[in-house]
Amino acid sequence: MSRIYLTKDGIYKGNLILVNEDILIHENAIPGLKAVNGSDITLRYTAALHLETAMTEINGWSEITPVSGYRSLAEQQKIWDDSLNESGMEFTEKYVAKPAHSEHQTGLAIDLGVTRQHIDFIRPEFPNDGICGKFKAIAAKYGFILRYPLGKEHITKIAYEPWHFRYVGAPHAEIIEKNAFVLEEYIEYIKQFTYWTEPLVFRNEYEISYLAAGNYSFDGEDIIDVSGNNRDGFIITKRSGNYER
Ligand code: DAL
Ligand code: ZN
Repeated sequence: MSRIYLTKDGIYKGNLILVNEDILIHENAIPGLKAVNGSDITLRYTAALHLETAMTEINGWSEITPVSGYRSLAEQQKIWDDSLNESGMEFTEKYVAKPAHSEHQTGLAIDLGVTRQHIDFIRPEFPNDGICGKFKAIAAKYGFILRYPLGKEHITKIAYEPWHFRYVGAPHAEIIEKNAFVLEEYIEYIKQFTYWTEPLVFRNEYEISYLAAGNYSFDGEDIIDVSGNNRDGFIITKRSGNYER
């Protein structure tokens, strides 16, 4: 990137947007969706490409099925309504995000299930061992995090979902995994690393920092990604000066 132009409403877009019970998705039309492994499940282009690469590395599609990817608001509403009718409120609140509050609406989240004759749509089976374990082990390298881990339900407000992976991009996924953060915690953590003054340096390759929401125009040399956090600012990812190209 060369010159960077940011506007206030840019904070609602990008790979790092936080979408949860408190924060809804602002982007309605999601551009650039791509089919996952030739199925009718789609993801945003970059997320789909990285997922395919990860699956190629472990021959993952031989035993793993994509179950749910991008969902429109209407689809999320239907899933919510159906779950409410079939399984009641307690179950639904644990496993289905409220319409307008689902990561699936971003095109950055994918539910994966181990291939079976019958796969549960809301809670696909995704064990920790075998091929699923292999995927989990390499997911962060390709920019994916396990979004709803065990023990963080009080923060995510969603039950443990071993099947739900969220694309945030590398190196963010690796930092999140290394620190055992959930996305809510990472977004908060990054705010201390102010752009222009005090970036977080990761592996001497990347500089990550936070820039409060506003209108900006600046030289973006070495910047490889700018994402809104969907709350109050931008997360800027830069190649560090030490990185050898
Ligand atoms: N199952 C996740 C929480 C969703 O509905 O977005
Ligand atoms: Zn999901």
